Amino acid sequence: MIGIYLSGTGNTKHCVEKLLYLLDDTAKCVPLEHPQIIHMLEKQDTIILGYPTQFSNAPFMVRDFIKRNAFLWKGKKVFCVNTMGLFSGDGTGCTARILKKYGAEILGGIQIKMPDSVCDNKTLKKDIIENRQIVKNADKRLEQIAEQIRQGKYPQEGLSFIAHIKGLFGQRLWFYRKTVGYTDKLKISDSCTGCGLCCKECPMRNIEMKDNRAVSGERCTMCYRCISLCPQKAITLIGDHVWEQCRYEKYV
Ligand SMILES: Cc1cc2nc3c(=O)[nH]c(=O)nc-3n(C[C@H](O)[C@H](O)[C@H](O)COP(=O)(O)O)c2cc1C
Ligand code: SF4
Ligand code: SF4
Repeated sequence: MIGIYLSGTGNTKHCVEKLLYLLDDTAKCVPLEHPQIIHMLEKQDTIILGYPTQFSNAPFMVRDFIKRNAFLWKGKKVFCVNTMGLFSGDGTGCTARILKKYGAEILGGIQIKMPDSVCDNKTLKKDIIENRQIVKNADKRLEQIAEQIRQGKYPQEGLSFIAHIKGLFGQRLWFYRKTVGYTDKLKISDSCTGCGLCCKECPMRNIEMKDNRAVSGERCTMCYRCISLCPQKAITLIGDHVWEQCRYEKYV
């Protein structure tokens, strides 16, 4: 068994690691951007795949990864873990349907509420106490889910036809243009001091350093990692001001 994930602010990383180690404490858990990921996946039969919901869809990087490596999935057993701030409809179904097309067997899926990673939109902000409680609840759920799976009962959250309709009409259709590909809309303000952290941490290698300033390219997958890490709060995407940087570690 192996765990793989895309995680911007650490929520999905935590959920996949926790579930995986409860099921098999010898298993490896690696990010999608790991240089050896294809080689590692080829050797495994069972995969836990995690990613955050974005507008009731899977991030483009995740869908792109699945499609570019279509040869990988035949005969693999995949369990989908989707984290969300509030609502994802068929967040797990968004990858499960593609994986099935390439021959994977979908064991099941879960959609776990975690702190909202969008930190440049004030209306989505929750206080630290509420976010800590959200993480505690998620941990409790993951323990219950691991017990269920040990008994051979895989949850099927987000995989039904009704969930598909909810995801599609609840959000995905209206925000279709935001998730159809990578974005070039990342903004980096003049307060950038050129520390290089965003460039080093971006899973898409979308940020370059030029003349001691960070410059964004056209391949951002909207994960919010750089936005949540920048010491100057110089990076924004949906909004224009960083209210409070979100990182999983702040809530434990
Ligand atoms: C661009 C973007 C869009 C998002 N859209 C949704 C959404 O539609 N529904 C939701 O519940 N959460 C949404 N979220 C919140 C994340 O899915 C959630 O915080 C997730 O746990 C982040 O995981 P990560 O830390 O592993 O990246 C969105 C986050 C981002 C960055
Ligand atoms: S992390 Fe912030 S300050 Fe550092 S290079 Fe990136 S944008 Fe500039
Ligand atoms: S540029 Fe920032 S938000 Fe976009 S993919 Fe890279 S780290 Fe994520």
